Amino acid sequence: MNQQAVNAVLSVDRAFLFIFGVSAAILVLITLATVYFVIRYSRQRHPVPADFDHNLLAEIIWTVIPTLLVLAMFFYGWQSFSALRGMPEGALEVKVLARQWSWSFEYAGGRRSPELYVPVGRPVRLAITSADVIHGFYVPAFRVKMDAVPGLTTQAWLRADQPGDYDIYCSVYCGLEHAKMLSRVRAVNPEDFERWLTQEPDLMEGAKIAQREGCLGCHSTDGSLLVGPSFKGLFGHQTTVLDQGRPVEVRVDAEFVRQVLADPTRRPTQGFPPVMPAYPHLTPEQTAALVEYLKSLGHEEHQP
Ligand code: CUA
Repeated sequence: MNQQAVNAVLSVDRAFLFIFGVSAAILVLITLATVYFVIRYSRQRHPVPADFDHNLLAEIIWTVIPTLLVLAMFFYGWQSFSALRGMPEGALEVKVLARQWSWSFEYAGGRRSPELYVPVGRPVRLAITSADVIHGFYVPAFRVKMDAVPGLTTQAWLRADQPGDYDIYCSVYCGLEHAKMLSRVRAVNPEDFERWLTQEPDLMEGAKIAQREGCLGCHSTDGSLLVGPSFKGLFGHQTTVLDQGRPVEVRVDAEFVRQVLADPTRRPTQGFPPVMPAYPHLTPEQTAALVEYLKSLGHEEHQP
């Protein structure tokens, strides 16, 4: 059992609770003392104020006690800091790429995923960076929060002790759809993880491209609305775009997809922010694969 992971969570909580407890106790004491002094030493009850020069005992007390408290806070904080920053041995390496507005995780074998699959019981070391602006990789369940900075690789690590899903948030305001920049840590048994990692996902080429290029961060495949329109039931159907500000009905076909990929802001879909980046690096074959993928999702509309 890796004690360090347990220590990371426990020591962060201990530092938090200690500082919170001390602050709460001081707040209560000061409030009670203030009320007491206001009543006890009011002009009525205490007409002639006492004149103190100094009080050595009081000065020692109010110097020593706060010093000890602050030293204890530093000690607990330093413990949790070193538990979070000390990278464990034998960790699984995963690259984390943040972009507006999705997360992408890449494993040593080249496998990419929009969700962070991890094996239960094994520490996972994360090399975090960003493709555009500063984001924040934040998993409250593991007390992990690390900035994703363009041009810089930051490090964090976590270890799941229980199978399950844990929410990933973006902790740095990064633009319009910051709040929707969500993903999950999916902690699975080591055998399931190996299977997931080595098996080439049974996806069409277009689906792989959509995943790799981050399309699925903004376009759902189940009809739910993210930053952009859902891919479900999109292809082959009418949609309304803004052509120089005027709404125009168009049919989503291969030519339309090509135009959008080349210049997304020229005719943005009505009702959605015109924030899609262009994808000029896609080859005609890749674009065709994407079109096939969209076609497969477009048909789903007709099912009940
Ligand atoms: Cu990315 Cu906020």
